[in-house]
This record gives sequence, C-alpha cells and structure tokens, in this order.
Amino acid sequence: MSELKENKKRILTGDRPTGKLHIGHYFGSLQNRVKLQDEYETYILVADVQALTDNFNNPEKVRENILQTTMDNLAAGLDPEKCIFVVQSMIPEIAELTVFYSNLVTVSRLQRNPTIKTEIAQKKELFGNSGESVTYGFLGYPVSQAADITAFNADLVPVGEDQLPLIEQTKEIVRKFNSLYGDTIKEPNYLLSEYKRIKGLDGNSKMGKSLGNAIYLADDEDTIREKVRGAITDTTKIRKDDPANPDICMVGYYHKMFSKENLNTICSECREGKRGCVSCKKELADNIIEKLKPIKERRKYYEERPELVQEILKSGTERARKITKENIEKVKASMKINYLEN
Ligand code: TRP
Repeated sequence: MSELKENKKRILTGDRPTGKLHIGHYFGSLQNRVKLQDEYETYILVADVQALTDNFNNPEKVRENILQTTMDNLAAGLDPEKCIFVVQSMIPEIAELTVFYSNLVTVSRLQRNPTIKTEIAQKKELFGNSGESVTYGFLGYPVSQAADITAFNADLVPVGEDQLPLIEQTKEIVRKFNSLYGDTIKEPNYLLSEYKRIKGLDGNSKMGKSLGNAIYLADDEDTIREKVRGAITDTTKIRKDDPANPDICMVGYYHKMFSKENLNTICSECREGKRGCVSCKKELADNIIEKLKPIKERRKYYEERPELVQEILKSGTERARKITKENIEKVKASMKINYLEN
C-alpha cells in the first residue's frame, strides 16, 4: 500500500452496515468520496456500533453486512490503495471519546436533533407511543458520530443531506470541548453532494429497503428493468401520445441523473406527446444499467475475493488505530486525566 502524505487533509465518512447500498447512496455520498480520494487522505468507517443502536437484537444482520457495505464502496470506485477502510467496533478510542463527549451534550439537545427526532417519530409509528423503543444508546448515537469524526481529526465529512444535523451536533461538541479544556480538537466541515436527496421510484422522498423503491448497486439487469417499469409517471397521461409533464414523473426525475446528454430532447418529446412511457422507461433502464456497469464489474471482482475485502478492513483498521491512539492521548492530556503520566 502506498504511503500517506502527511500534509494531506483528511476525510472521514461512513455507512451503517445494515443493507446493500443503493443509487441514493451513490449520488448522495459515494460519488463524492470517489472524486475526493486523490486529494484527501480518506477514511471510510464501517459503522457497526452505530448500526447496533438500532439492531442490537440482530447482530447477525450487522455482521453479514460488514463485507457487503465495504464491497459497495469498493465497487463505487474507492481505491483500496488510497482509502483506509475501518471497522468502528475495532477502534476502542471511539468508544472512549463517546463517553467523554456524553457529558457535553444535554438530553434535550439530543431529542431536538432533527435526524433523531425524525427517527424517533418513525419508531413510535412502528412500536407505539410508549417511547420504550428509544434506548439510551440510540439517543446518543450523534455523540458517537462526533467521536467517529474527531477520533480521526477529520477536516471534511462528505454526507447526504439527512446527516447535516449530526455534523452540526459534532461541531457543537467540538466547540464545547475546546472551550472547556483548551483547543484540542479540529472542527470538521461537511460537504454536500450536487444531489441532496434522491427520491424513490414511487416518488417517496426517501429511498429505502423497507419501502421497496430503491435500485441497489448490486441489482441485476432484469431487476433494474422491472423496478423502472413500476416507476410512477404523470397520472394525467393515459395514451402513448398524450402530452405529459416530466417534472411530475419519476422517470423524468431519474432521466435528469442518468440521461444528462439527452435530457432536453426527452423532456420536450414528453411535453409534446411524442414519447410513450414504455419506451421512455426502457431508455432510462438502459442508461441506469450502462452507468452501473463498471460498478457491477468491480463488485463482482470483490465478491469473488471475500478474503481480500477482509484483508482491506483488517489492515485499514490497524493503520487507523495509530491515529486514534495519538488523538486520545491528546484529549486525555487536555482534560488532565492522564494521571499516571508525567
Ligand atoms: N450516520 C451515517 C449513516 O447513517 C453513518 C456514519 C457513522 C457516519 N459515522 C459517521 C457518516 C461519521 C459520516 C461520518 O449513514
């Protein structure tokens, strides 16, 4: 593996290993990671501890997805020679930082965090209003995410829009720490992608496994074609030559991402009633398949070599610990809790 340049700025970002990644992840975050990997020293965290806050009763699911999530990142084009892949639970310094940071955040601030608030509302819908579904660990995951980012002294965190409140919370924790114990921790910045949030094929504002409205990086051709055939179109269009509005059609919405070169023609044909939905969907499916081709090829390469993916995680995690160990020493020194050292 090539040596890291000391003067490069650092990226830390990551995913919960709870399922395969979809094109929402690709446009929302993975694409940016790929673009930035030459310029930044890039750390990709496989956030299993965070995944367990929701899945503590199903550790098997998290276990199964450690390699899958890593493979999705590699398939998207992250180069294992440049990026460092890290398993969160194997970095004890993250857990230590989480404990120290917990004192710097109030419970009500966590409850007001918009990401947490939305997720708690979703839990209540699923499990009833008792609030018993919300554990201490779950409520505190923004604190552990602050620990993830700062354990590496990251300069930049490329994320999707839904993650912004977590980065804001990280910034607050860093400021609080630095004002209490002296300037120690770097305040990170975030980077949003050009596509903030990708809607599902059904028009739902979120793409997700449980909603069945997502195209996965690992989907085969037939699955992609079938999913695109089911996409919601302008409901006022009945016949093939009826004019329609591509701005209220999910096929039009996806053409904006996958058919950029031909977009003007597609939209004007649609508006003029010169474009049937069947052929329009076929064109979209073709373009998605074409775009995902290199991703699928790389995925296949790694799927056939699980031991290689395991080795990437193992060596990456070892390498990462050198940094997190150094940082925790600094944090303890600032807090003056390095009692037995002179
Ligand atoms: N919360 C992120 C998600 O659900 C995953 C994550 C964990 C992360 N730690 C992080 C993202 C640190 C950016 C930085 O996708």
